[in-house]
Amino acid sequence: MSAGAGGGEREESGISGWIDSRFPVISAFRGQYIRFPMPRNLNALWTVGAMLTVVLLLMLATGITLAMNFTPTAAEAFASVEAIERRLPGGWLIRAMHMTGASLFLAALYVHLWRGLYYASYKKPREILWLFGMVLLALVMVTAFAGYVLPWGQMSYWGADVAGKAIGAVPWAGPVTERLFLGGDRPGDVTLHHLFILHFVLAFVVLGVVGLHVAALHYTGSNSPDGEVREPERTLPFHPYFTIKDGLGVAVFALIFALVLFFLPGLITEPENFRPANPLHTPANIEPEWYFLPFYAILQAVPSKFGGLVASAGAIAVLFAVPWLDRSPVRAPRLRPVYRVAMLCLPVAFMLLGLAGKHHVQGGWLYVAQLATLYYFVHFLVLMPVVSRRETMTFRGQV
Ligand code: HEM
Repeated sequence: MSAGAGGGEREESGISGWIDSRFPVISAFRGQYIRFPMPRNLNALWTVGAMLTVVLLLMLATGITLAMNFTPTAAEAFASVEAIERRLPGGWLIRAMHMTGASLFLAALYVHLWRGLYYASYKKPREILWLFGMVLLALVMVTAFAGYVLPWGQMSYWGADVAGKAIGAVPWAGPVTERLFLGGDRPGDVTLHHLFILHFVLAFVVLGVVGLHVAALHYTGSNSPDGEVREPERTLPFHPYFTIKDGLGVAVFALIFALVLFFLPGLITEPENFRPANPLHTPANIEPEWYFLPFYAILQAVPSKFGGLVASAGAIAVLFAVPWLDRSPVRAPRLRPVYRVAMLCLPVAFMLLGLAGKHHVQGGWLYVAQLATLYYFVHFLVLMPVVSRRETMTFRGQV
């Protein structure tokens, strides 16, 4: 498939013809959406991209409403969030949607990332699509961190404090960057201003990069569980087949969203953050949101502070290099038995890291975190290049 795959051959008539001959938005829509050819063998994991898009729009809509009622100062931030919850009509729902959305967005993002790794969707010619995806992951993580500081609760404040100290541990440029980030020697008004603007601006940058990500996808077409599918008889037009399939995926996701929002809010909220920030009282357990716990565990698993920081950032950085680490010409995991087992061990290692992070990497959890960190890096830096060269290829012409 290439640019314009699906073609907008049909001539428009009437008003749509008049518009289309001057600004071909209607034929582009037909070619890039209605008739766009999709592999007919896509499984449910290919609906997660649609879920992410819908949640992103929900995050922008609820975020703008929250921002209109939020005061970004250390003295008033917490009270303004309280006022949104109690006095703004429907404010409690808007905030709950934004909080639940952040957690489920990251959960969906990890599933989407794993799908790409498992089915080797990063291979030629999708390297740029992959890199846009990785930029999105990095941007979303920074946006989520900045957002968590805004309500200025205990975890917000001490989270910003820990992040500042981590930046400060970088040799040479660290202390200056820490002061720039905090705007002083501890979190305060300036920190809150920085993070509010960063959070707001990055949300729209993410939206723009999603546009590039999807445009890159439309140039190459989708990969599939069996690898590249190019034959017309093995594809179906996007509409109605994938409109319905994505719609079903989004509906199931909306049910899970409602379940967490209305019945299980404790799953994604931290009670300590419902106390206003108090610079004189450090909470007993300072821990990040669940989606950062695996990286927090890597940070703690390495004995040196700076080493932990490098390892933690390296865990993300290595993902950028994946298209060049995997040398196998085969995509379909069912034709790569050893790689497939390794790909199933990866989420196990990631979850163990998350659990170790939850237990503050203490006692036996330190060894769990160290082993899982080792597996994580060996997976990408050793298994991926070596297995992809050595694995006996039994594929039947599907790459
Ligand atoms: C804001 C976050 C993101 C959004 C809204 C998003 C959206 C989408 C959408 C709508 C699709 C097409 C449907 C699908 O295949 O599921 C897609 C495909 C894809 N995405 Fe993302 N994405 C995001 C982040 C990422 C990340 C972090 C990665 C990993 C590096 C990634 C890698 C890919 C790949 C490789 C494909 C093509 C999959 C294939 O055809 O096999 N995306 N994305």
